[in-house]
Amino acid sequence: MSRRPMLAGNWKMFTTPAEAAALGRAMRTALMDPPAVDIALFPPFTSIAALVAELKATDIIVGGQDVHPEPEGAFTGNVSAPMLVAAGCGAALIGHSERRTYEKEAGEYLARKVRAALAAGLMPVFCCGETLAEREANKALEIVRGQLSDALAGLTGSEAARVVIAYEPVWAIGTGRVATPEQAQEVHAAIRAWIGLTWGAGLARSMRILYGGSVKPANVRGIMAQPDIDGALVGGASLNADSFAGIVRFQDTE
Ligand code: 13P
Repeated sequence: MSRRPMLAGNWKMFTTPAEAAALGRAMRTALMDPPAVDIALFPPFTSIAALVAELKATDIIVGGQDVHPEPEGAFTGNVSAPMLVAAGCGAALIGHSERRTYEKEAGEYLARKVRAALAAGLMPVFCCGETLAEREANKALEIVRGQLSDALAGLTGSEAARVVIAYEPVWAIGTGRVATPEQAQEVHAAIRAWIGLTWGAGLARSMRILYGGSVKPANVRGIMAQPDIDGALVGGASLNADSFAGIVRFQDTE
């Protein structure tokens, strides 16, 4: 298995431009001489320029936390994929549970965002995950498969190959309640099986699936030890350079 691990930080609605620059500088120091992984950071739109400037001499990818399906137009409050590219971004989060919940995003709208990101050359990081009620009703796998097929099933294999999937159980986000490595692995294996049915075994082997939800330096190693978990999408712990660096260096932790 040769999937390159990816560790990503979602800063959500935290950091002014000055704070993002300071955090980026601290990350640069903490992540000097990084391990062989991909690293991505998703600051708020207003902090992208400051972070891109701070990280320009590094391989750290800066991404947008969302992207609009259209390249431009009368869509007040939105930011397009070509705009993110022009601002120095290489990736975009799509379908994060906070946007599904608070902005009512779903289905075909997210499929259009994925296509827009791909068309502009961005790496879509597509988020999926069930709520606690859905898990307790034994519907976790069905919900996640539904989210994937709504947004990704229409992609060609070569388009899908550029997508990263992030499984984030809603009940584990920001709650301190991390899924056990076995709970996460079960869903990741189901996602990989779905990829295989949709695009074939080659893509099932190569596509990366990240886990998100209360990932910390103390629990990342157990999560990363699972065969179908290829990385982490980190919220709270990515707002501190030392803790994020501890996650990126998961191979060194006890
Ligand atoms: P926490 O790591 O704060 O639980 O957030 C996870 C998340 O939503 C990342 O996108």
